[in-house]
Amino acid sequence: MEPLLQAGGVVVRSFLAAGEDRALADDVLDGLTRPFKELPPKHFYDARGAELFDRITELPEYYPTRAEREILVAHAADVVALTGAGELVELGSGTAAKTRILLRAMHDAGTLRRYVPLDVTESMVRATAGELVQELPGLEVHGIVGDFERHLAEVPPPEAGVPRIVAFLGGTIGNFPPGSRRRFLRGVRRLLRPGVDHLLLGTDLVKDPAVLEAAYDDAAGVTAEFNRNVLHVLNRELGADFEVGAFDHVAFFDREHEWIELRLRAQRHMHVHVGALALDVAFAAREELRTEISAKFTRRRLDGDLGAAGLRLVRVLTDPGDRFALSLSTPRR
Ligand code: SAH
Ligand code: TRP
Repeated sequence: MEPLLQAGGVVVRSFLAAGEDRALADDVLDGLTRPFKELPPKHFYDARGAELFDRITELPEYYPTRAEREILVAHAADVVALTGAGELVELGSGTAAKTRILLRAMHDAGTLRRYVPLDVTESMVRATAGELVQELPGLEVHGIVGDFERHLAEVPPPEAGVPRIVAFLGGTIGNFPPGSRRRFLRGVRRLLRPGVDHLLLGTDLVKDPAVLEAAYDDAAGVTAEFNRNVLHVLNRELGADFEVGAFDHVAFFDREHEWIELRLRAQRHMHVHVGALALDVAFAAREELRTEISAKFTRRRLDGDLGAAGLRLVRVLTDPGDRFALSLSTPRR
């Protein structure tokens, strides 16, 4: 397949061409016709969604990004020393803001060879790839525009003698329900050579529900706007007629499952037509549509999930406030 872009150390390939509208349509048809309506979270991140997420990471209430950055600043050099990594594969790379700390540490250690960002949002993969080859001379970037649930096999094979880190930061792993989470981790494990490569996983930790709920329901309303953005995506991409302002943002901590749940609640009885699906959906007054879960972790949950995927914990690093954990794990032989 022709790369989207190939120039001075950068290659970007997309696996989200033609069939992609279909994937969105299938997801939405499935989700909106369930007894409890829900939508899969990857559709949040169009260009506007990506920009809103960027604003979320700077909100006073949204601590995960800052906590994870603190851990990277304190421990990136140790992570590089421990793994000897020369290649960084990053799933859901976004703007790679925190990743630069790790790449810089690899550069300083003299091991840095290649960065492989994978994200559904093409504009972000392109921009990040271009910036990084400028910032880090000699770096090769192999960008992948794709879905980490379907395109892990498109990650290029590792180079012999170059240890790899696969990074999955930001607590994005928490957006999978528990069963899919383990299936996903088994897929990630296949990218790792036993005795050579490591997974670097960011997980938000269980804590005071008030702190968690504020992180997903900020005073400025940015998260609410981000949540509702998914309806704009459906209106544009699938010719739907959601009245976006008639849905309220709902975020709460489910204490039993220990996850944050995000929903959109219809203010009144409504009918929505989705043109591309020839679908009419009714919402009862106050009916809720689930848009995302964000699971929070304990050491035990982390151990259990990694173990079930054939991975063994090597290190768990936390911020001084114990809000967030970055863990290194490796395939069990
Ligand atoms: N890693 C960054 C961004 C986290 S936000 C950070 O830690 O701040 C989640 C990112 O994952 C977004 O960039 C989004 O576009 C991407 N993403 C979400 N679902 C995805 C999927 N199914 N496949 C690939 N990327 C996905
Ligand atoms: N996946 C991130 C998280 O769980 C991103 C995120 C923050 C998010 N706020 C959100 C996703 C609101 C959807 C809705 O923290």
